[in-house]
Amino acid sequence: MKPILETKALTKRYGDFVANTDISVSIAEGTIHGVIGPNGAGKTTFFNCLAGTVPTSSGQILLAGKDITRLAQHARPLAGLSRSFQVTSLFADLSVFENLRLAHQAMSPTRGFVFWRSVDEAGPSADAADHVLERTSLSSERDTLVSELSHGQQRVLEVGVALMSQPRVLLLDEPTSGMGIDDIPQMITLLKALKDECTIVLIEHNVGLVTEVCDAVTVLQGGKVISEGTPQEVSQDEKVITAYLGDEL
Ligand SMILES: Nc1ncnc2c1ncn2[C@@H]1O[C@H](COP(=O)(O)OP(=O)(O)O)[C@@H](O)[C@H]1O
Ligand SMILES: [Mg+2]
Repeated sequence: MKPILETKALTKRYGDFVANTDISVSIAEGTIHGVIGPNGAGKTTFFNCLAGTVPTSSGQILLAGKDITRLAQHARPLAGLSRSFQVTSLFADLSVFENLRLAHQAMSPTRGFVFWRSVDEAGPSADAADHVLERTSLSSERDTLVSELSHGQQRVLEVGVALMSQPRVLLLDEPTSGMGIDDIPQMITLLKALKDECTIVLIEHNVGLVTEVCDAVTVLQGGKVISEGTPQEVSQDEKVITAYLGDEL
């Protein structure tokens, strides 16, 4: 099967420090692909390169076979690649619906991002927002201010914001970070439901979630790929077990 997202010898240097070394990963369309590894392994750096947040030092990134290595960050969602962040990036004083609407407006190449434009109650952006509210099971919180949502609901809404660009590939950096155990099943349900909509690449520390939702996993340590396979395969790999000694998975 042709990969939807592929990296070839992707390398990222910060001065003399190499945060990602020759990372070659192939991600099949319609799958959930986990990126795991101990703290400082280079996972977020890898996502920053994929999303164009930082320039790649060498190597290639291919989206549906097209080289996007040098594509500007703002152009990547339009090309079909969107991300959510490890830390929350929502507008706390706006409603759930308004946050989604703004995400759609920001994406629209014809209307542009006009910040002071009032949020229309109808129109394509409103339809798209309502669709995402349904997909994320947040319809009942449509008019709730983000500041009044639980932390878990905020993390779900962040996934919703990334979904507003209708990505072919969605990059999620620790979507459960800071979540209580009680909220994790909701995220698992959401990720599984999204599989028919897009391919998901997921950085995640929660082993239970990775085992339950990921079709394939890439394990990074010290900026390099040390193991790849199904969650079961990598969890039995001696190199992975050693990498995690003294670290929480
Ligand atoms: N902007 C930067 N400048 C210098 N070093 C960085 C920068 N960003 C990350 N690093 C370093 O790269 C390494 C990998 O970090 P990161 O990708 O955040 O790891 P992870 O997400 O796996 O915990 C760390 O040693 C970190 O200090
Ligand atoms: Mg990180």
